[in-house]
Amino acid sequence: MSLFHCVQLFSFSFFFFFFFFICSATPFTPYPFDLAYHIDCGSPTNSTDPFNTTWLSDRFSTGGVTSIVSEPLHFHYSYEKSLRFFPISYGKKNCYVIPSLPPGRYFIRTFTVYDNYDGKSHPPSFDVSVEGTVVFSWRSPWPESIARDGAYSDLFAFVNDGEADVCFYGFATDPPIISSLELFQVDPLSYDSATLGDNHVLVDYGRLSCGTNQWGPDSAMILTFSAGHGNPIGNID
Ligand SMILES: *[C@@H]1O[C@H](CO)[C@@H](O)[C@H](O)[C@H]1NC(C)=O
Ligand SMILES: *[C@@H]1O[C@H](CO)[C@@H](O)[C@H](O)[C@H]1NC(C)=O
Repeated sequence: MSLFHCVQLFSFSFFFFFFFFICSATPFTPYPFDLAYHIDCGSPTNSTDPFNTTWLSDRFSTGGVTSIVSEPLHFHYSYEKSLRFFPISYGKKNCYVIPSLPPGRYFIRTFTVYDNYDGKSHPPSFDVSVEGTVVFSWRSPWPESIARDGAYSDLFAFVNDGEADVCFYGFATDPPIISSLELFQVDPLSYDSATLGDNHVLVDYGRLSCGTNQWGPDSAMILTFSAGHGNPIGNID
């Protein structure tokens, strides 16, 4: 798939996503879900992007070290240039724990890029979990375009314990990495959540397959929570 198609697909999913999102909000009450965090992982300062989104300096992580990509000029936004990585010295599991969240459904988006930030030409293998369910499995080697340009990944999860846990588990001595982490509260009834129930994570793997087969064909997947261990229960298109 060409970069152009990739961008097209990206814009389309983006448009569709927000269209769906807005349509699914109830028209009878003012939009009540305004809680949002945009965390610029690895950055010591707050900043505002061209869309007037305020990006918070890196916070809420349990460990790790900050760094920047090897070619910052290749990236448009400052929140894509810095990252946090979790060396093995910080243990096998590290998390971002976003506190003080009212119970509800949340949209979580991560941006992940390697860009040879460590000079080792080895994108790491690691897993990412949300609320105890493994949602992404990064495996080395990554497709070249994702290693260099990065990838956004989106999911919906229910949070009912007051905090969102996004955790990283390194393979062998590979340090997991993350460039940005966003969390928005959404309408609990969006995406047919009433039918799905509260113990599922809805993951959009389609965006990640853009131009590659890193996560298979364009598809979304529902993962179920079960005592902290998620098992995929099926695919939806
Ligand atoms: C960034 O913004 C947050 C929230 O408004 C504030 O608490 C913090 O002091 C600001 N500055 C830095 C360097 O984090
Ligand atoms: C961002 O905010 C500034 C100042 O409030 C305003 O002048 C500008 O038009 C805004 N830009 C966008 C893209 O909304």
